[in-house]
Amino acid sequence: DCMTSRNIIKLPGFIDVHVHVREPGATYKEDFASCTAAALAGGITMICAMPNTNPPVIDRASYDYASALARVSARCDYAPFMGASSSNFDTVSEVAPQAAALKMYLNQTFSTLTLDDMTIWQKHLQNWPKKMPVCAHAEREKTGAVILMASLLDRPIHICHVARKEEILIIKSAKERGLKVTCEVCPHHLFLSTSDIDDIGQGRAEVRPVLCSPEDQAELWKNIDIIDVFATDHAPHSVQEKNSEKPPPGFPGLETILPLLLNAVHEGRLTLEDLINKFHRNPRKIFNLPEQPNTYVEVDKDYEWTIPQAMEFSKSKWTPFAGMQV
Ligand code: DOR
Ligand code: ZN
Ligand code: ZN
Ligand code: ZN
Repeated sequence: DCMTSRNIIKLPGFIDVHVHVREPGATYKEDFASCTAAALAGGITMICAMPNTNPPVIDRASYDYASALARVSARCDYAPFMGASSSNFDTVSEVAPQAAALKMYLNQTFSTLTLDDMTIWQKHLQNWPKKMPVCAHAEREKTGAVILMASLLDRPIHICHVARKEEILIIKSAKERGLKVTCEVCPHHLFLSTSDIDDIGQGRAEVRPVLCSPEDQAELWKNIDIIDVFATDHAPHSVQEKNSEKPPPGFPGLETILPLLLNAVHEGRLTLEDLINKFHRNPRKIFNLPEQPNTYVEVDKDYEWTIPQAMEFSKSKWTPFAGMQV
């Protein structure tokens, strides 16, 4: 209705550095068209696309294939990750100039790229250009291990989706020591915990890192100053898969992250400056991403709504945040 009743604020286009687009290989889960539509609907104008596709993005040929698909259907800006495999450490950096970063999977998850051998981590950390980020899925003691190895090689490391007290506290200590470590946290670890699993449903609640204890969740909020980046880890799977006997891990998040973070601003748990720093400025700085001219997001601060069973644009057709008032 009338514009004068609206309380509109203008914010920069947000940057999500952790998105599983699923194209190529699993376009029934998501593709560049649906994923970037979901991004824009959520106030996100640039995404970094994860490499655990089929085929995985691990060399020049798979990079060219995936980026040709992105070029024809993406509706917002994007930057691709390269994936670290156990055999591509001598060749993957050839594609570094065209990539956002290198992704290393150090735990078992929904990926064929898990690296078990620390000598392989070392080769990747040595060979990837030092000015570019290496991002690690590194849970629990792997967080400490990869921070140590990166610091021995004097190169920066970015820790993905920090979820536990033990992880945020080791990162805090590393930062206090002056080590070149940055980290991101996802909305599902900030706004959900094990206490929400019954409501979400056991199978649907599968995600890596898992939903953690209310104590872990509280520790993330307590150390919010240590968190450099908010990122979704948007990991869409079909609702049929999530309801099945062997549900794959992952949550959609692109369409709900900004409303959830704005709730935290409204509640005084976060300032608007924190939001802009962690979801626009720091992602741009850490990942060397370009400024997007004439790109902004308008938010109606007075508009309240309840997150529905599924959001409009992601193909995943479910959300773990259903029923939350934002
Ligand atoms: O829950 C997750 N889903 N964690 C990951 O690390 C991978 C992701 C996916 O690709 O589905
Ligand atoms: Zn009116
Ligand atoms: Zn991960
Ligand atoms: Zn991920």
